[in-house]
Amino acid sequence: MSEWQQGLVLDNLRWNDHLHSLRIEVEGISFSAGQYTRLALEVNGVKVARPYSFVNPPHQQVHEFYFNSVPGGPLSNRLIAMEKGEPILVSSKTAGFLTLDEVPAGRHLWLLATGTAIGPFLSILRAEQPWQRFERVVLSYAVRHQQDLSYLKVLDQIKDSHPNQFTWIPFVSRESVANAMAGRIPAAIDDGSLEDLLDMELDDQTSQVMICGNPEMVKDCISSLKSKGLRKNLRHTPGHITVERYW
Ligand SMILES: Cc1cc2nc3c(=O)[nH]c(=O)nc-3n(C[C@H](O)[C@H](O)[C@H](O)COP(=O)(O)OP(=O)(O)OC[C@H]3O[C@@H](n4cnc5c(N)ncnc54)[C@H](O)[C@@H]3O)c2cc1C
Ligand SMILES: NC(=O)c1ccc[n+]([C@@H]2O[C@H](COP(=O)([O-])OP(=O)(O)OC[C@H]3O[C@@H](n4cnc5c(N)ncnc54)[C@H](OP(=O)(O)O)[C@@H]3O)[C@@H](O)[C@H]2O)c1
Repeated sequence: MSEWQQGLVLDNLRWNDHLHSLRIEVEGISFSAGQYTRLALEVNGVKVARPYSFVNPPHQQVHEFYFNSVPGGPLSNRLIAMEKGEPILVSSKTAGFLTLDEVPAGRHLWLLATGTAIGPFLSILRAEQPWQRFERVVLSYAVRHQQDLSYLKVLDQIKDSHPNQFTWIPFVSRESVANAMAGRIPAAIDDGSLEDLLDMELDDQTSQVMICGNPEMVKDCISSLKSKGLRKNLRHTPGHITVERYW
């Protein structure tokens, strides 16, 4: 089978002027929750391809990708303009280690995301594994502005399905919003306010942490978690922190 499959855009969901999701019909793609594929368009006869995480869980046949328009970015600004019925190339070579198969055993699963990196966690949270493996699952989801918080209905559905196991905490950093934490995730780890809110400790005995998004946020979270005794999870040396950077 060739790597590139011809897909068809079913929908372009516009969350706001810079955040969109494409729903794509395409055959022959399989993946594990948390993984990504590459989307591509031909631009002036040249294929421009970039990685995007699956938002849908593996058992859902329509594939969904959530992204922002990066100023000057060659692919993202074309993707946001796509319309229903337009063709798009999707790679059948799915990849990535931000999956629960890579995460060692633990009691509590912490998922830390900025911006569009909520996507792979929505895939993971709508599969069976987290609920079978962890007593509690926490998602911290950080955005600049309230209007950037997306997929709230999906998060409500996940909460309804797992009311005692699941908690999600929004962080809004650039305006004051009721029921959201202010500032950044690493600061809330450092000052203990995230653990206090959840009445749950981040430690090397109970916690497994998955982090995805802005590379500076990934770096700062790792540093905050290391100061609590957690270590990076490597295949040859299992630890507590499993990460993916978006750029
Ligand atoms: C494993 C992996 C999975 C990814 N999954 C997603 C996803 O699900 N959704 C998504 O929106 N993006 C995702 N990305 C980023 C995505 O692949 C593109 O880089 C992004 O959409 C911009 O594409 P572009 O062609 O417009 O610009 P590019 O030429 O790719 O990027 C231009 C510059 O913009 C910056 N940049 C890249 N991505 C972002 C971003 N998301 N936000 C802010 N700045 C950025 C970088 O500094 C980069 O050098 C992922 C990246 C990786 C490595
Ligand atoms: N969000 C928008 O309104 C907007 C509008 C148009 C275009 N864009 C473009 O989209 C791109 C991505 O923007 P985004 O808002 O999705 O993502 P982002 O810049 O990664 O911000 C998302 C969240 O991550 C936080 N963050 C940033 N660095 C961090 C760090 N080192 N440690 C912990 N948290 C950190 C931000 O806090 P801080 O607020 O404190 O940085 C914010 O709460 C940008 O390049 C931007 O040009 C964004």
